[in-house]
Amino acid sequence: MKRLRFLGIFLIIGLVFTLLSCTKREMKDQGTMTEKPAAETQKPMGNQQMAQKSLYERLGGEPAITAVVDQFIANVLADERINKRFARTTGERAQRFRTNLINQIGEATGGPQKYTGLSMKAAHAGMGITTAEFNALVEDLVAALNKFNVPEKEKSELLAILAPMQKDIVEVP
Ligand code: HEM
Repeated sequence: MKRLRFLGIFLIIGLVFTLLSCTKREMKDQGTMTEKPAAETQKPMGNQQMAQKSLYERLGGEPAITAVVDQFIANVLADERINKRFARTTGERAQRFRTNLINQIGEATGGPQKYTGLSMKAAHAGMGITTAEFNALVEDLVAALNKFNVPEKEKSELLAILAPMQKDIVEVP
């Protein structure tokens, strides 16, 4: 009698064990359970996935763009080749100029910002900006991008967006 009860308990334990391992396999087949933790099963982001990210996102969004614009402005104001052009860009006007640059770059790179300033032609009309001045300003921007270690790919994508503006800004080749 005692032996029978022991056998019964033994059988029940065996049945429960079999049932549990079946359910586990089913869950695995359905993809709800994996052997490895999530971090191990996730593949590193491929080039294709990176390419789907906007330039805005790859640059680091508004905080990164703001930091680059501030450094860019500081570089321009310290650049003897062009800083006299910005002699009257002070106070509220300087704030507006900064906001315009952040929004312009944000929007152009795929961010949610909306540029509400003047067209590049209207903004620079009659200033007689030369190609050399344009190149100096681009150099100041590149220095700002370098300071924040923006990779070559993102740097050249941003410069490629700005390059077509040259024809609307430069009046003296
Ligand atoms: C890709 C090159 C450039 C970009 C993206 C650019 C962008 C801008 C923007 C967004 C504004 C503000 C427009 C507004 O007030 O509505 C502006 C104004 C101005 N830009 Fe440029 N610019 C470029 C090149 C240059 C160059 C080469 C110079 C001269 C060296 C220059 C001198 C100025 C000045 C003096 C203003 C007026 C600033 C003020 O409101 O006091 N810009 N530019």
